[in-house]
Amino acid sequence: MRILSIETSCDDTSIAILDNNKVLSLVTHSQIEEHNKFGGIIPELASRYHSLNIHSLIEKALIDSKTKLDQVDKIVVTQGPGLVNSLQIGMIVAKTLAQTLDKPLYTIDHIHSHIYSPFIGKEVNEIPKQFLFLVVSGGHTMLGISKDNKLSVLGQTKDDAIGEAFDKVAKIMGMDYPGGPEIDKRAKNYKGELVSFTPAKLQNFEFSFSGIKSSVLNYTLKNKKYDKDQVSASFQKAAVDQIIFQVKKAVKKYKIKDISISGGVAANSELQERLKKELFKDKINLHFPERKYIIDNAAMIGFMAYIKLKKHIIKESDFEIDSYPQFKEN
Ligand code: KG4
Ligand code: ZN
Repeated sequence: MRILSIETSCDDTSIAILDNNKVLSLVTHSQIEEHNKFGGIIPELASRYHSLNIHSLIEKALIDSKTKLDQVDKIVVTQGPGLVNSLQIGMIVAKTLAQTLDKPLYTIDHIHSHIYSPFIGKEVNEIPKQFLFLVVSGGHTMLGISKDNKLSVLGQTKDDAIGEAFDKVAKIMGMDYPGGPEIDKRAKNYKGELVSFTPAKLQNFEFSFSGIKSSVLNYTLKNKKYDKDQVSASFQKAAVDQIIFQVKKAVKKYKIKDISISGGVAANSELQERLKKELFKDKINLHFPERKYIIDNAAMIGFMAYIKLKKHIIKESDFEIDSYPQFKEN
C-alpha cells in the first residue's frame, strides 16, 4: 500500500510517501525564514507559501521514493487543528489528487499523529496498547491517555502553549523566532544561580505558562542588564518543572508504563534529561520521535492513516469534508 500524505497545518509544507508503515520519502519546506522577519507566523503568508511550494514538493517526494503518481493507493491529508487557510491548501490539493487519480481520500488529526510519531516505522502490534501521551508544541500542551487508539485528555494548558511561551520569552530577549532552540542552548551553557520565576498554581492535570512569561517580562524590565543565559536557564527550569510535576502525578495515578512525548518542545534537552532521570526508578519506557519526526511533518500523517487503516478504524472521506481549527479528542 503506497500512501501519499500531505501536511500544511501551520508553517511547514510537508509531503511523504510511505509503503505501509515505512517512510520512503519525506520532503518539508519550512517557512521560518519568511515569517522570522515579522517575529511570528502571519497566517495569510503561510497559506500563500503553501500553495506556491506544494506542487514541487509532491514531485520531489515522488522522485525520491521512485514512485509514479499512478502507483499511489491512498491520499491522506491533515484535517486539523491548525490555521484554517493553511489546512485548506493541503485539503484542496488532496481532494484534487484523489479525484483525478480516482483513489480514496483519508483525513487525519494533526495532534493524533504527533502522539503516534514516536512509533513511526513500527507495526500495529509493536505499539503499546495503552500509553500516556504528552504533547508539547508551539500550539498545544496536553497530557492524556491513549487506549486502543482512543484518546482521553487529562489536562491541557489554560493559557499559552509551552512552545508559545518559549517563543514569547525569546522575543522579550530579542532572539529570533522560534526561540525555543536558542533558549535551550543558552540554558545548557549556564551553570550559575537561577532567578526564581513565579510558578503557576496548577489544579488536576492542567498547565499554565503565561504567569512565568509575565514574570520574565517584569524581571527584564526591572533589570536592564540581565543575563540572557541566566534568564533562559531559569525560565526553562520553571517550564520543565511544571511538565515533570504533572507527568509524575499521572504516572503514579494511572500506573502506566509507556509515555509518548511529541511536539517541537520534545526536542528540549532539559525536558528529555529530566524525564529520563525522574522516571528512571518507575521503569517507564519513554518514546521520543526521531529528530526528523519531531517537527511538523507529513510522515506522521501518513503513518497515523496506516495504523488506522490496519485497525479498520478510519473511513474514506467524501469530497464535502472540510478542515477544522481546534483539536478534537477522537
Ligand atoms: O510542534 P511544532 O513544530 O509546531 C507546532 O505544531 O506547534 O513546535 C514548534 C515549537 C516552537 O515553539 C519552538 O520554539 C519549540 O517547538 N522548540 C523548542 C525546541 N525546539 C523547538 N522549545 C524548546 N527547546 C527546544 N530545543
Ligand atoms: Zn505540530
